[in-house]
Amino acid sequence: MTEAALQFSNEEKIGRVASVDTSRVAIDVTNSVLLTRIGIGQLIAIRGTTEREYLIAMTERVTRSIREELPEQGEDDDVVAPLITVPTDIIQGVLIGTFRTIEGAKTNTFKRGADSFPQIDRECFVIEGVNLQRFMGILGAGFSEDERLKLGTFVADRSADAIASGDKFFQRHAAILGSTGSGKSWAVALILERAAKLKYPNIIVFDMHGEYAPLANKANGGFADRFRIAGPGDLENPGDDVLFLPYWLLNRDEMLSMILDRSDQNAPNQASRFTLHVRNLKEQTLDAEGKADTKKTFTVDSPIPYDLKELVALLNTDNTAKGIGAKGAPVKGEWEDKLTRFLSRLETKLDDRRYGFMFSPPTPAAKYDWLAIQVLKLLKSDGGSGIKIIDFSEVPADVLPVVTGTLARLLYDVQFWMDGSSRTPVTLLCDEAHLYLPVRDDADAVQKQALGSFERIAKEGRKYGFSLLVVSQRPSDVSRTILSQCNNFLALRLTNETDQGVIKRLMPDSLAGLTSILPLLDTGEALLLGDAVLLPSRIKLDIPKVPPDSATRDFWKEWGSVKPDDTAISSAVECLRSQSRRSKGLS
Ligand SMILES: Nc1ncnc2c1ncn2[C@@H]1O[C@H](COP(=O)(O)OP(=O)(O)OP(=O)(O)O)[C@@H](O)[C@H]1O
Ligand SMILES: [Mg+2]
Repeated sequence: MTEAALQFSNEEKIGRVASVDTSRVAIDVTNSVLLTRIGIGQLIAIRGTTEREYLIAMTERVTRSIREELPEQGEDDDVVAPLITVPTDIIQGVLIGTFRTIEGAKTNTFKRGADSFPQIDRECFVIEGVNLQRFMGILGAGFSEDERLKLGTFVADRSADAIASGDKFFQRHAAILGSTGSGKSWAVALILERAAKLKYPNIIVFDMHGEYAPLANKANGGFADRFRIAGPGDLENPGDDVLFLPYWLLNRDEMLSMILDRSDQNAPNQASRFTLHVRNLKEQTLDAEGKADTKKTFTVDSPIPYDLKELVALLNTDNTAKGIGAKGAPVKGEWEDKLTRFLSRLETKLDDRRYGFMFSPPTPAAKYDWLAIQVLKLLKSDGGSGIKIIDFSEVPADVLPVVTGTLARLLYDVQFWMDGSSRTPVTLLCDEAHLYLPVRDDADAVQKQALGSFERIAKEGRKYGFSLLVVSQRPSDVSRTILSQCNNFLALRLTNETDQGVIKRLMPDSLAGLTSILPLLDTGEALLLGDAVLLPSRIKLDIPKVPPDSATRDFWKEWGSVKPDDTAISSAVECLRSQSRRSKGLS
C-alpha cells in the first residue's frame, strides 16, 4: 500500500478551527512559533471527517486580537481581581480543496472544492517540508502525461514542478498580466517554446514590437515562422514573409468604420450607395470566376476581390449624375453632391502609404485564389512550424485596431466555416492587448469594430476550437468582456492599484485575498490561477531557451561605457521619414 502523502507531527500543528463560513475558515493559533514562519498563500491542512481526509486551505491574513479574561480565582474571593489581556492570533484561510489518502482505488488524491465543512476544534497543520514536496508532486500528477504544460517551479518548494493542464489553459482563453518588465514576454516565449515541442501546435502571435523575432531565428534555436504586415517600404517588391490585408477582406462595417463619418447628414446615402456598388462588383467577380454556387448565397461582407478604382468611379458617377426632370430637363440628381465627403475620405486613405497593406496590395492579391493561399500560411501546422509570429511593429497606431481586428476575424471566420470534423484548435496570442482591445467606453468607431471581432471570439470561440491568450501590462485598459471570458490567469508583478483591482474582480470571491501578493512578486514570478491548475499557486517561471528581444537596459552601466552611434541616429531619422526600418539597413 502506498504511504500517505501528508503525515503530520505535533510540531506542525498550528491550531484549531475557530469558525467557518461558506468558503473561509478561521484558525485559532496555538503554536505562535510556527506562526512566525507563515506567509500569505501558505497551505494548511485541516483534519477532515475521517483520518484519511484533510481539507486544504490557503492563508489569506493573520490577525491578532486581544481578549480580556478574568484571571484564575485566587483564595481570597473577596478581592475583585483586575481583568488580564490575552492575545489571540487568528489565521484566516480560504478553503480550496480536499486531500484524501485513499479514495476508491486511488491513493493520495487532491480535488478542488471542499466536500464538507471543517468542524469546529479540528486540528490544523502547516504543510511544509517533505509534506509540501509530496503534495505538490500530487498536483502535477493529476494531469495525464500528454496534457502537461510545465511552466516552472513552485515558489513554496523549488524542487517541485509547477504543471498546468495545457488543454485547460488554452481551451477557454487565458491572460498573462503584469506591469512592464515583470516577465510577460518571457512567459510568452516559454509557453510558445513548450507548445513548439508538440507535433502540430497552432498559435498565431500578434507581436506589436517585433520582440519575438529571435524565436523565428532557426540558426539560433528558433522554432517559429515569422511574417510582417507590409509597411510603406514593402509595397513595391514584397517578400514572401510580407502580409497584405487587401480592402476586399474587410466586411461592410469594417470598411465603413474607416471611411464613413456618421455625423454627416448624408451618411445613410453614402453607406447605401457604397453597399450596393460593392455588392454588384463582387457579383461581377463571381461571374467572371464562374462561381455560380457562391453567387447564390454570398453577401456584401463576403471576402471577394473587386476593383477599388471601379468602385470610386461608380461613386463618382453617383455624385455627379444629374437627374431628369418631368419635361426632360436636367434637375439635381438623386445622389448629386451627397457623396463628396465620403469620396474624399476614401481617396485620402487610398493615397496614404501607411494604409498600403490594405489599399495598395500587389497584383496577385487581387486574384480570387489568393486568399486561400494566405490563410493557409497562417493556419497550417506541419511539424514544428505551427507557431506563427506576425510582426505589427511598423503598423501605425491608428490603424492597428483595423489590422488586428480584421485579421482575427478572418482567421476566426475560416475556422468557423471549417467542417467540424476536420477542425483543429487554434490560439491567437494578443501581446500588448491594451493597444487594440481597449475598454469599450474609450474606443472610437474603428476600435469598436475591431473590438467586436475579438469579443465575438472571446464569447463563441470555445465551440470552434479558437481561443485567445491575452497579454497586457494594463489590465484596466483591456476590454472587460474579453478579460472576463478568460478562465486562466498568469498574473505577474502588478504594482498599479487599479490594475490589481481588475484582477481582484476577475477572481472568485474566495481567492481575491491572494491578489495582495501581486505587487510583491519578483521578476519572472507569477500567480497562476484558473482551472488549468488544481491549486492557485505562486510559481517561478522557467527561463525560455530563446528569450525574446525585450531586454531591460542597464541605463547606468551603459551610460558609463557605450557611446551613442551618430550614424545610427541619422539613419533613424531617415527611417522615420520613410516609415520603414529596412530601407536604411537597420534591423
Ligand atoms: N522567468 C524569468 N526569470 C528571470 N528573469 C526574467 C524572467 N522573465 C523575465 N525576466 C527578466 O525581465 C526582463 C523583462 O521581461 P519581459 O520582457 O518579459 O517583460 P514584460 O513583462 O514583457 O514587459 P513589457 O510589458 O514592457 O513588455 C527580461 O529582460 C529578463 O531580464
Ligand atoms: Mg513584453
